[in-house]
Amino acid sequence: MASRDVTLFCLVLCLGQKIQAQDGNFPIPIISATPSSVIPWNGSVKILCRGTLESYLYQLEILENLTYKQVEKQLGFQEVAEFVINPVDTNTAGCYQCRYRREHHWSAPSEALELVVTGLYDKPFLSTNGGHVAMPGENISFQCSSAHMSFDRFSLSRPGGPTLSRHRDARLQVDFTLGPVNLSFSGVYTCYSWHSGRPYVWSAPSDALELVVTDTARQDHTTENWVRMGVAGLVLLALLAILAENRLGPQLPHQEDQQDLPDLSWSWQKSQTEWTFGLTPKDHQGDSWS
Ligand SMILES: *[C@@H]1O[C@H](CO)[C@@H](O)[C@H](O)[C@H]1NC(C)=O
Ligand SMILES: *[C@@H]1O[C@H](CO)[C@@H](O)[C@H](O)[C@H]1NC(C)=O
Ligand SMILES: *[C@@H]1O[C@H](CO)[C@@H](O)[C@H](O)[C@H]1NC(C)=O
Ligand SMILES: *[C@@H]1O[C@H](CO)[C@@H](O)[C@H](O)[C@H]1NC(C)=O
Repeated sequence: MASRDVTLFCLVLCLGQKIQAQDGNFPIPIISATPSSVIPWNGSVKILCRGTLESYLYQLEILENLTYKQVEKQLGFQEVAEFVINPVDTNTAGCYQCRYRREHHWSAPSEALELVVTGLYDKPFLSTNGGHVAMPGENISFQCSSAHMSFDRFSLSRPGGPTLSRHRDARLQVDFTLGPVNLSFSGVYTCYSWHSGRPYVWSAPSDALELVVTDTARQDHTTENWVRMGVAGLVLLALLAILAENRLGPQLPHQEDQQDLPDLSWSWQKSQTEWTFGLTPKDHQGDSWS
């Protein structure tokens, strides 16, 4: 009787534990990568797994051949475990998940984290249809094109900015249309391309393109233009004044004013002298010819 009770007790306990584990009484761990989940070849990345204060073992796993395989374990009570992947290359890039152990049970796995290595192929070319300055409400279209015929995946991203990763299936070139844009779309954009058969191995980033979204652009230009026109007008006025002075100046002074303007009369005389002097040689020449 006693042994049967024990067996029953164990069965209930095991069942209970199983139910607890299946119920997911523990919070699901949260996986993240810092500085980013898109890392240049030979770079390093930290994968963080956030569990609970009572978690005493963390496990990082990578998806290989359709099953998750253990990469690393970390023992010790901690709320967040850090796994360093160094270097990030074609072997370590991939799909990761993590889980933790608490009260002798494993938590459910985290969501998947896709760790991408970049720089394995030539950079694609990024361009935009319009200018690099846009008004809020406009739609902006970026084109990303690759020289690799076989590449059929593209993504547009904003390094350093709020995460923006738009993936597209296409051949050779793809259009990403953003909009209607607002001020928070300002920033630097790059694109990548890769082949769908190797989803975690991307090209080098394209050259960066800066987009400025501003609602003061046109006003600034208008003000600028007014200032420019004003300056041009003033210059024109000044030129006209100088011209008028030069043309009318010598004729303007009346006889009685001329004493007050000795400089002007001197220059008039001087120019008259030059005029006369200029004629003289011609007369001389004529004389000598005859
Ligand atoms: C890879 O990175 C390490 C430093 O993390 C550096 O010492 C090494 O030279 C790099 N290798 C190449 C091929 O760039
Ligand atoms: C996946 O499985 C195939 C055979 O089924 C094997 O050749 C290959 O090495 C495996 N890859 C990994 C990463 O384990
Ligand atoms: C921007 O695109 C949206 C659709 O995404 C469209 O409804 C809207 O009219 C477009 N705006 C402009 C200014 O072209
Ligand atoms: C800009 O647009 C995005 C997405 O359309 C939106 O999430 C964000 O709140 C907007 N920001 C501002 C400052 O309006």
